[in-house]
Amino acid sequence: MKKLSLYTLIILVASLLIFGCTGAKTVTPKPEQPAKAESVSPIAETLRPIVIYDSWSGNTKKIAEVIAHELGCDAVFIDDIDKYDLRSYNLIIIGSPVHTGMPTKKIKQFLSQVQPAKYSAVFVTYGAPGFGPLTAKICLDCMEKKLGDTSIGRFKCHGFHHIMKTYPDHPNTDDAKEAIAFASDLAKKCLERL
Ligand SMILES: Cc1cc2nc3c(=O)[nH]c(=O)nc-3n(C[C@H](O)[C@H](O)[C@H](O)COP(=O)(O)O)c2cc1C
Repeated sequence: MKKLSLYTLIILVASLLIFGCTGAKTVTPKPEQPAKAESVSPIAETLRPIVIYDSWSGNTKKIAEVIAHELGCDAVFIDDIDKYDLRSYNLIIIGSPVHTGMPTKKIKQFLSQVQPAKYSAVFVTYGAPGFGPLTAKICLDCMEKKLGDTSIGRFKCHGFHHIMKTYPDHPNTDDAKEAIAFASDLAKKCLERL
């Protein structure tokens, strides 16, 4: 019995020496990455699209993600854009909430310094009643102006206005369907031209 325990002890110590050092791997936490497309579709490989957006309360983010999903690419929050080399994309799609008829400060700043890709497109969500569509148009015009003649499409839809409480539940499934149609139209236009 004593012999058996001594034998077990020797095996235990030997295993610890052999596997103990190499087996215990240091787990380095991965830095937080922006949401990535799960796999690259053949269309995404040819188009090389990317969606870049700002969003204060999640409406524009929702539409950005719908468009990105349709195109099989990443939807990147504006704060994370430095992690991407934008020179490697053929189609840049930029989204913003409308803030007093303009894109957000971050999107404005981004647009003032971005080197436009071969093709671009813009979209906004807006929530003001009455004059909302007009402010959305002004905002889209302003965004497109910064992209020169690279813009091949624009899209707008309602988004719940947290201050005015207008358009609750927007963007809804119909808005999402329209965003999908917008994305597939962009893909079609791009593929025809590339
Ligand atoms: C500061 C501020 C200004 C806004 N200005 C406008 C505006 O000029 N026109 C409009 O239609 N909606 C306006 N809205 C409503 C937002 O554009 C709308 O709710 C949008 O969907 C919010 O998107 P987000 O959730 O991605 O931030 C404004 C909202 C905020 C917070």
